[in-house]
Formats: sequence, structure tokens, C-alpha cells
Amino acid sequence: MIQALFGKEIIHLSEIDSTNNFAAKLLSENLCQNGSVIMADVQTQGKGQRGNIWLSESGKNLLSSFIFKSDNLSVDRQATLTWATSLSLIETLRKFNIEVQVKWPNDIVVAGKKIAGILIENQLQGSKINCSIIGIGVNLNQTSFENLNATSLLLETKKTVEPKSFLAFLAQEMNLLFQFDNNSDLLKKEYENNLFQMNELKRYKDENGEFYGKIIGTSDEGKLIIEKSNKIETYGMKEVVFLDI
Ligand code: BTN
Repeated sequence: MIQALFGKEIIHLSEIDSTNNFAAKLLSENLCQNGSVIMADVQTQGKGQRGNIWLSESGKNLLSSFIFKSDNLSVDRQATLTWATSLSLIETLRKFNIEVQVKWPNDIVVAGKKIAGILIENQLQGSKINCSIIGIGVNLNQTSFENLNATSLLLETKKTVEPKSFLAFLAQEMNLLFQFDNNSDLLKKEYENNLFQMNELKRYKDENGEFYGKIIGTSDEGKLIIEKSNKIETYGMKEVVFLDI
């Protein structure tokens, strides 16, 4: 039987700087539990990856942070959290008949356009991850994104969905996929099966300039592996740019 972890306690705020920051505050004061979810209608300082800001029109999208205390997850297995979160989002969006993929490392995209983003912040104790704040933003009912290469559930399906009901579907998937004690290899394989531009010859850029290459997988640490004129290169965050999107 699958134990409900996420979604038992949902803390719904009308406005906050960032649900991830709020989750960190609750954790530091011992005011939340494993599986607590914080959601907000609007964020005044939503955080994206690489220090970017995450913008979202008020009340239209899912802005959420999931608190996860793993039993015994070591830092070198932290990619497992990315795999499980990305796959949960992919499965949930597929329930709404949207064909999504994951653009390495964790952008959820529809034909290259971003529909959801993930920001995982880990609190460490030695070499173990004590607690993770899994921030998830999903574009649901917003229809204009200025000059961003983004889309939403409404744009893709012509249907609106309440952030809270999307959250309930997402929590269900997360409850399944976060039972990963012994199956992180399986999660990794499934993540690679859903990887944007996997096995396709595309243009990228690294510190040596532009090149054509083929993504052939990811490493156990979550790095991107690209075959580049018969050489195999492994890239961490910020070390490679996708040019063909
Ligand atoms: C990205 O840049 O792709 C990551 C975006 C993550 C945004 C979500 S919205 C809810 C949570 N709180 C934040 O401040 N950020 C994450």
C-alpha cells in the first residue's frame, strides 16, 4: 500500500516572498513535518534556478514547496530527488493529455517550451541530506509570458484547472515516486526515457564554443552526457547551453 506523505498537510498562503523560503523558516522553527506542502497564490520574490526570479501572475499558477525528509539519502544520490520530481510532474501533466519532456536538468517542457520548473534546496548533515525543500512552479492558467519561451496548461489544452486540484494530482504521483529506496536506477532510466533531445543531433555550447552533439544519457550524479564528434563529454550545471530551442 502507498502511504500518503505529501498532501496530508497543505499550508495555503495568499501572498509570500517565496514558498521555498517560507518552508525553510517553518523547518528551522520545527513547525512542519515530513510531507508538508506550502502553496501560495502569489510570490513577491519567487526564486528560480541559477539565481533567477520566478514570475507568476497572481492566483493563476501552482506555486508550491514540498518538504521531504529522506531516511538515509546521501548527498551523492541527490539527483534521485530531481528524477522523482521531474517524473511526477511529467506523469501529472500527461493525465491532462499534455505531451511533456524534461529538459536537463529539470525544466519540464512541451516541445521545448517551459511549463514547469523545479528548485530543490537541500539541508545537509555531513554527507547526508537531512531535509529537502522541493519547490515546484507549474504554469496553469496564465496565457502570456512576455518574451519567455514558456507555455501553460491552459494554452496547451484550452482548459483551466485550479492550482489546488492540480496539486492534489501531483501529490498523488509524488507519493508513488518518492518511495525510491532501492529503485533509483529505475527512476534514472525513466528520466532518461523522457529526456528532451535524447539521441538527437543538436547544437550546444560549452566553454570551447558551439558544437553539434547527441545527448546519450545522464550520470548517476545527474550530469549530462553528450557525444561530441566521437568524444564523450560530461557536463554539470551551467557548463553547457542548449542552442536549438
Ligand atoms: C526554475 O527556474 O525552473 C525553478 C523554478 C521554481 C519555482 C518554484 S515556485 C514555488 C517555489 N518557490 C520558489 O521561490 N521557487 C519555487
